[in-house]
Amino acid sequence: MAVAPNAVTARVKKIRRRRLAGELNVEQTQDLAQVAAILEASGIRTAGLTRPAACYLLAYLGAEPVGAVGVETVVDAALMRVLAVRGPMRRHGIGAALVAAARKAAHTRGARRLFALAPDGDYLRRFGFVSAAASELGDALGGVSAILAAPDEAASCSAFCLDISRDGVIVR
Ligand SMILES: CC(C)(COP(=O)(O)OP(=O)(O)OC[C@H]1O[C@@H](n2cnc3c(N)ncnc32)[C@H](O)[C@@H]1OP(=O)(O)O)[C@@H](O)C(=O)NCCC(=O)NCCS
Repeated sequence: MAVAPNAVTARVKKIRRRRLAGELNVEQTQDLAQVAAILEASGIRTAGLTRPAACYLLAYLGAEPVGAVGVETVVDAALMRVLAVRGPMRRHGIGAALVAAARKAAHTRGARRLFALAPDGDYLRRFGFVSAAASELGDALGGVSAILAAPDEAASCSAFCLDISRDGVIVR
């Protein structure tokens, strides 16, 4: 195809962050095989990973992928879909870094509430998540059955919600 003389051509340059040994970085990824490997190692199901609205973040310690989180946004609400840190790497703040990154990703995509599903919310409560009704999560995200990859997921988990509507607000 001929390019018009005045057409602006852009070269897409992939920017890969330098990963320094011992440094923790959380990056958006399209490497779903790596995300799946981390989830499987934690016994978390991988169904629904390829849903188009989902974005995934990987935590790297140096060059090694050590944790993953998924965020799916529907208008002004988001669901933290999965969260896992490799067993030997736990209790070093990697889970907290992933929750912070998921929160930022949700806010950046316009979400005012960040939902999560978990068997118990003890870890999530550390970050201010509070119990929510399944119907609240369903209403915000277009129906519980529409967002869950497996029908039994809702039965084994409870809903939690974090108000992120004031993220980014500068108080004067
Ligand atoms: C939950 C998980 C992501 C935390 O990752 P992590 O990197 O160890 O988390 P952090 O280092 O930020 O926090 C560790 C702290 O959380 C606590 N913690 C970890 N899992 C917890 C849980 N399920 N309930 C309550 N507290 C928990 C640890 O005891 C530790 O406490 P301390 O700071 O007082 O020592 C990780 O344990 C994991 O992958 N678990 C299996 C998958 C899972 O349960 N995912 C759903 C989470 S809602």
